[in-house]
Amino acid sequence: MSDVIVTHAGAELHIRFNRPEKKNALTGAMYQALEAAFKRADDEPGVRVVLLTGAGDTFTSGNDIRDFQASAASDGSMPASPFLTALSSMTKPLVAAVNGPAIGIGTTLLAHADLVIAARSARFVMPFTSLGLVPEAASSLLFPRLVGRQRASALLLLGEAIDAETACAWGLVNEVVADTDLMTAARDYASRLAALPPAAIRQTKHLIKDGRHDVPGRIKEELELFRKRLRSAEAAEAFQAFVGKRKPDFSRFS
Ligand code: COA
Repeated sequence: MSDVIVTHAGAELHIRFNRPEKKNALTGAMYQALEAAFKRADDEPGVRVVLLTGAGDTFTSGNDIRDFQASAASDGSMPASPFLTALSSMTKPLVAAVNGPAIGIGTTLLAHADLVIAARSARFVMPFTSLGLVPEAASSLLFPRLVGRQRASALLLLGEAIDAETACAWGLVNEVVADTDLMTAARDYASRLAALPPAAIRQTKHLIKDGRHDVPGRIKEELELFRKRLRSAEAAEAFQAFVGKRKPDFSRFS
């Protein structure tokens, strides 16, 4: 079974992170599959809406930390980069159904979704700084606009986690539903979008996309810093701590 499952359901393209044994941690191969699926959605006239969710009890635990380590030890490649370009430039509407914890890129990608439905068990955390990293997906631009500067600082500087109700109150989520109702609610939003005139939907999405002129530049700027941070001693300590199932110790860094 593939780690990313893509299925057609009429005018909807359903994409599911499917690596539940690793809490849907995203690998390079998964980013490639996601990028291809977003491009396919845009290219195929029959697709009017994309619905993204995760298998099991987690939306996604973010980038695979062992992949971060491998990348830092080799060429510092960033397999998320083409995925982020495809995500942020997709012209068709994206509905995200957040079925559990959304960590790191699992939360940052939501700023590019058009509608976000969360299960009550969802929670949102962007622990970049505690991994010695910086934010990505233009989240450093989009989150202050979305939730306000101070709340964005709590999320991005402190890496504070918020629950589904808070995410809804802060404007990151449209609606919170019982876990068992998540996919019904998300499909309902998707089918309502799919029933509307597709060109009007695409053009309205383009117009209301927050920071659409600044996003590509910010994604690039963040990824340049991110690549350097991946190879930093701070990040190495954080990754080793995760793999060794211990608390990181940043006391020696200045
Ligand atoms: N990268 C690599 N492996 C990951 C992972 C990630 N981002 N998230 C979870 N896993 C793996 C764990 O190492 C574990 O593997 P193992 O069974 O071989 O030991 C497995 O998935 C299950 O995770 P576990 O931590 O035992 O589950 P949990 O329910 O106690 O906690 C999370 C789930 C998602 C809260 C926790 O795994 C976590 O915090 N992961 C890291 C998230 C993160 O920092 N992501 C990077 C963001 S930039």
